[in-house]
Amino acid sequence: MKPYVYITRKLPDEVIKPLLQNFNVNMWDHDDVPVPRDILLSEAKKADALLTMLSDTIDEAILTAGKNLKVVANLAVGFDNIDVKAASREGIAVCNTPDVLTDTTADLTFGLLMATARRVVEAAEFVKEDKWKSWSPLLLAGHDIHHKTLGIVGMGKIGETVAKRATGFEMDILYHNRTRKPAAEQQLGAVYMSFEELVEKADYIVCLTPLTPETKNMFTREVFQKMKQSAIFINASRGPVVDEQALYEALVAGEIAGAGLDVFDKEPIDASHPLLKLSNVVALPHIGSASVETRTTMMGLCIDNIAAVLKGTEPKTLVNKDWMPLVRA
Ligand code: GLV
Ligand code: GLV
Repeated sequence: MKPYVYITRKLPDEVIKPLLQNFNVNMWDHDDVPVPRDILLSEAKKADALLTMLSDTIDEAILTAGKNLKVVANLAVGFDNIDVKAASREGIAVCNTPDVLTDTTADLTFGLLMATARRVVEAAEFVKEDKWKSWSPLLLAGHDIHHKTLGIVGMGKIGETVAKRATGFEMDILYHNRTRKPAAEQQLGAVYMSFEELVEKADYIVCLTPLTPETKNMFTREVFQKMKQSAIFINASRGPVVDEQALYEALVAGEIAGAGLDVFDKEPIDASHPLLKLSNVVALPHIGSASVETRTTMMGLCIDNIAAVLKGTEPKTLVNKDWMPLVRA
């Protein structure tokens, strides 16, 4: 019997075609609603491979239920939705989609920074809502980007690529990361700093750190209070890195000037959420890597990874480097 691959969201037929020759493939039949937990669990029990979304919780219960499960390929660079430790213990490879989304995500992150600084969304709505009565000197005036100081928290590949974008705007670049990045320091002039110092000095604080127990709730009220009152906070990593209530209060109290958010604590964020009522908040529906080209490439990489593991070879982008396939009876 062919191995069974379950995909937790409807993907285009031409993307999954390469799998059909060697595998039985089934997909959750919706592209706008996540697969319900009970269906995910029953599919995991049967599957040799899962192709998952960042909105699926792949916890210990799912992984241990998957008696035949050999690989979970997540359509994202982040993998905080997966219990990687449990996967390693169960001999299941976990794969993500790094590298292929770096430029696209950096583009969106820088675009969100620009949109927030220059009030692009607010201004566009202003025109469409027929509020534009006259050109006027300070109408929808925002803040400059060029020659300002950018502070990147989480200097991975996406962080470095955002920094590269910023050099074109002649920005001063600060960064904070667990490890120093000598290449970024030399090539981009990025200056390493403690988190506390960075948030005090930067005009734009851009969060790109993965969500881990160490980074959860790292942006507290106290941190926002340390920022300049003119600072703009951008989050393109994961919502839970930020205490959202604290961010809201900091914005309302005028402790910072604005926020551009592509990610939220709970996704989708409720439309009645107080943050969305603020004119100085630009909110996007987690679209960092969402270009047609890049999402198609990401799907292809997930499929290559699944095919590699099911063939008994090493996948291209393995998360759990300690992965050892179990010999199953
Ligand atoms: C998106 O957030 C990703 O992790 O790829
Ligand atoms: C703006 O359009 C200007 O001419 O200053």
